[in-house]
Amino acid sequence: MDADLARWLVSADAVEALAEAAGQPDPGSMAAATALRRSWTPGQAAAVLTQADLRRRAVVKFGEAAGRLFFTRDALEQATRSDVARWRAERLRDAGATRVVDIGCGIGADALAFAAGGLEVVAVEFDPATAVLAAANLGGDGHVVCGDAVELAGDLLAGGAAVFADPARRTSSGRTWRVADLAPPWDFVTGLLTGRVGCIKAAPGLPSNAIPDGVATTWVSHRGDLVEASLWSGAWSPGSRTAVLLPSGDELDAGGRGAPPVGPIGRYLYEPDSAVIRSGAIATLADVLAARCPQAGIAYLSCDGFRATPFATAFEVQQELPFDERVLRRWVQEHGVGALEIKVRGIDVDPAVLRRRLKPAGQGSATLLLTPTAAGARALVVRRVGSSPG
Ligand SMILES: C[S@@+](CC[C@H](N)C(=O)[O-])C[C@H]1O[C@@H](n2cnc3c(N)ncnc32)[C@H](O)[C@@H]1O
Repeated sequence: MDADLARWLVSADAVEALAEAAGQPDPGSMAAATALRRSWTPGQAAAVLTQADLRRRAVVKFGEAAGRLFFTRDALEQATRSDVARWRAERLRDAGATRVVDIGCGIGADALAFAAGGLEVVAVEFDPATAVLAAANLGGDGHVVCGDAVELAGDLLAGGAAVFADPARRTSSGRTWRVADLAPPWDFVTGLLTGRVGCIKAAPGLPSNAIPDGVATTWVSHRGDLVEASLWSGAWSPGSRTAVLLPSGDELDAGGRGAPPVGPIGRYLYEPDSAVIRSGAIATLADVLAARCPQAGIAYLSCDGFRATPFATAFEVQQELPFDERVLRRWVQEHGVGALEIKVRGIDVDPAVLRRRLKPAGQGSATLLLTPTAAGARALVVRRVGSSPG
């Protein structure tokens, strides 16, 4: 979309077209395009139908606000989920920020949360059409500057503003996690953390060597999905590594602990949340649960007494079998297991392939958890337990 079309899209002239597009049962269909083209140009018709489609998809991230916001496909995909953006705004405010400069704001999901959290917002966006949409989304709650943040950041940040950046993670070849492909550049945005309160959002797979010394990092899970690694100055103790669960806000600090102890499989087995594993807080969780891992480097924890935790999925171990395909096939047959879930860590096996080879059939269901142990590879028959072992 070009900037002129974006300006039309957010203007009063497009309200009727947007409403008509929103009423189409399938905005992607030929019938919808034909209907809209009776009153608007093909470009305008395509733009409002795309908005209708994106607004429906955006409900997952933005709830009912999605119906009022403007998106591009890329910007929606990269936009921060509203629970996560709200959490970030609260943390920046708690760290003393009153004004935030959003370096590369996209359609403004984070900027909107900053404004809703009572922060003054100046947002910079390189792409002219996206900047128009961001300005419309923010309305009177923030100011959007269209331009290159690398050139503008110095002036905008003068006077004690906090910084936020969420560098674009795409290249023309598609999705990328390579730090070298981020825009604005990684060294530039992380450099902005020095001497001011701020947060840089990155992909959860961010390599450790891309985290500057002394910078705090949080790995954030939202409803079980690991959604980001965020680098902080001011809001967390320097150099700390923390797992954060949202929307609950539960936090677990890695605390500079080493690896968890290793020991035999006990009555319970825990599968830690990905944020716990990525942040290195698994040893903290092992302390909390009085648990050990089945082998060094294997991110399962096991113990004999049950303790409820939001940081892991808990299972009761019902049976311990050797990891032997014939033994497992026989077990599956004898128990009439048709619905078989297989989880695996530290053993080179494709769960989907193994499931087929075990020939599940019958009314029963079971979960097998495969792990190396000091006594050899094991297949554990497990049952999920909730907040109490029941
Ligand atoms: C990942 S998106 C931001 C998403 C936003 N945080 C949200 O949740 O809606 C990154 C944005 O940075 C913009 N960008 C990239 N390089 C830039 C630069 N040098 N100056 C300003 N904006 C830039 C891209 O156009 C893109 O819209």
